[in-house]
Amino acid sequence: MDSFLIKGGTPLHGEVQISGAKNAVLPIMAATLLTSEPCVIHGVPDLSDVKFMGQILGWLGAKVSVEGGTVRIHARKIKGDGDYDLVRKMRGSVCIMGPLLGRLKNTRVSLPGGCVIGARPINLHLKGFAALGAKIRIEKGYVKASARRLVGAAMFLGGRAGSTVLGTANVVMAAVLAEGVTVIESAACEPEVVDLINFLNAMGAKISGAGSPTLTITGVKQLHGAEHEVIPDRIEAATYAIAAAATNGEVLIKGARVDHLHAVLDKLREAGVVVERKGANLLVRRNGRLKSSDVTTLPYAGFPTDVQAQMMALMTQAPGISIITERIFESRFMHVSELARLGAEVEIEGPSAIVKGGKPLSGAEVMASDLRASAALVIAGLAAKGTTQVNRVYHIDRGYENIDGKLRGLGARIQRIEET
Ligand code: EPU
Repeated sequence: MDSFLIKGGTPLHGEVQISGAKNAVLPIMAATLLTSEPCVIHGVPDLSDVKFMGQILGWLGAKVSVEGGTVRIHARKIKGDGDYDLVRKMRGSVCIMGPLLGRLKNTRVSLPGGCVIGARPINLHLKGFAALGAKIRIEKGYVKASARRLVGAAMFLGGRAGSTVLGTANVVMAAVLAEGVTVIESAACEPEVVDLINFLNAMGAKISGAGSPTLTITGVKQLHGAEHEVIPDRIEAATYAIAAAATNGEVLIKGARVDHLHAVLDKLREAGVVVERKGANLLVRRNGRLKSSDVTTLPYAGFPTDVQAQMMALMTQAPGISIITERIFESRFMHVSELARLGAEVEIEGPSAIVKGGKPLSGAEVMASDLRASAALVIAGLAAKGTTQVNRVYHIDRGYENIDGKLRGLGARIQRIEET
């Protein structure tokens, strides 16, 4: 397993280009299963999760080819079976269920299992499929969903933590080929869901209300092939913005969608970071000392859970107390004990982490536990004095395209140590 060796203490300076959004491209790739015609997706990031989704689609019978940032998928004939070994490797692969049910009216996909950030149930996905008329059975760890016909219905998809991103994506993808009209209340409003809906509409689907909590889907008989450019990754953009602030640097973030980043930028400004819009780009620089700031994660347009760990790394550098509350995933604090190894003072109290910030961090060997926790450790390592070794960086390769190369381009002293 590769690791990163980071010599901290160098402010980041320069420009960084943001890649296409991982969490948009995964369901969009799955959506190509809804048509027997070829689809072309541009702006696809080179990530292990994307490669993996390509393998799943290939296993289901689709032809998948990748050239630069363009992926071509042709799902002329497919089967409806998602094997455990494939699905368990990546939680996001659960979103093949909706399109398989929509197109084949019959699917058997392994339950994905939990992961380090929480239990991650799929009851709301299944509630939506059932509302469309599918019979759902759980057998030997597999979900079997089948229907003679799917019929549009009104449903409420809100859960314990609010809306569900992949649940909304899955049910929308099942409903586009259903007979009649489906109305989803408490739908996820995340930009990645909007991007998926734009792609589905380009394929001939009839969906309105994207970006709002009410989606109306008028079923169509079939979908056709389409070409689509994926939105930029708002979580990657936020990660570089925070890295610039944490290292006392100045970075131009190119190709970020500012309209997708309001909650993060608002908190960064509150923490004393200067954020300026420069045309289609974003200039981020630290303005003297950081200020402590409280953060609560919420569904979009609130502060994203996928930026919570990185923000915590930043707040370890802000004198005073910051309270960071996680409202989406119950155990998304795996980075806390690793940040402590770098000298951070953080205590967990229920869903909140209390950060006593302002003490300089010092380098140590740490272990990445999940994608965003890894990003937080890299940020902390860049800000720390001395050398930090981040182990198990395969987590970070799942969701950040060429992060070590991009950081080196900003002057960071980061080296990948490849496992021999
Ligand atoms: N939930 C339920 N029942 C369900 C589905 C979800 O109770 O059927 C709960 C979850 O347990 C959680 C909350 O609803 O408490 C929100 O989960 P959601 O379904 O929105 O998460 P997801 O769709 O499984 C996506 C992203 C995650 C991101 C979350 C929240 C992808 C591939 N994954 O997951 O991304 O954290 O939305 O924004 O799109 C990451 O990129 O590092 C990552 C984990």
